[in-house]
Amino acid sequence: MINIAIDGPSGAGKSTVAKALAKKLHFVYVDTGAMYRCIGLYVHRCGVDAHDADAVAALLPKITVSLSYAEDGEQHVYLNGEDVSFAIRENVISLITSTISKIPAVRAHLLSLQREMAASHHVIMDGRDIGTVILPGAQLKIFLFASAEARAKRRTKELISRGQEADFETILAEINARDIQDQSRETAPLVPASDAVMMDNSDMTIAQNVDAICMLLAQRGILNV
Ligand code: DC
Repeated sequence: MINIAIDGPSGAGKSTVAKALAKKLHFVYVDTGAMYRCIGLYVHRCGVDAHDADAVAALLPKITVSLSYAEDGEQHVYLNGEDVSFAIRENVISLITSTISKIPAVRAHLLSLQREMAASHHVIMDGRDIGTVILPGAQLKIFLFASAEARAKRRTKELISRGQEADFETILAEINARDIQDQSRETAPLVPASDAVMMDNSDMTIAQNVDAICMLLAQRGILNV
């Protein structure tokens, strides 16, 4: 199986690029962030304190996460069989997920599922520790990043286009704070794999970014695209 790992900070466009690439290559896209968000949602629904690692770990045997393509052609995420694709995107769930994703038992719970998916399908998997921990043998590892300013600009534009209020300076400060937290956490800190290709997409369009990855696949003889 061909495995492509895409890691990088929040807001670097990993899922957008990974989805577009998966469509082009007819690979399965695995959104590991969505898997962590399912656990975050379950913890929230149970009213358990996300900082209480033992209480969160005790819930894990009751949680089954799965991904599949629905009729609309989009990938949907299921928590114990329930489609939670939209519910996991709420802001409160993002915050809880950021906390529970630091718990080693949570990471261990998802590790085997992520590896099983990569063993049985050609995948493009995005996350934080795919190239370093989950798929150290991936044929191609990309560490995707963009300057904090570029990410804040994209996010501001996205919110405004949805008719929501957005202040560039506030968003930039939030992005900088989250970067520091992600890089300094003890469990699975965000660090590139030593053999990852560092790709700065601050000045790339999505199509240019997909092309750049396809070029690497061809250059390395992994796939002829
Ligand atoms: O990519 P995302 O925003 O959907 O990720 C949600 C949260 O899960 C975020 O706080 C980072 C965490 N995460 C992680 O720790 N490891 C992964 N492989 C993917 C996401």
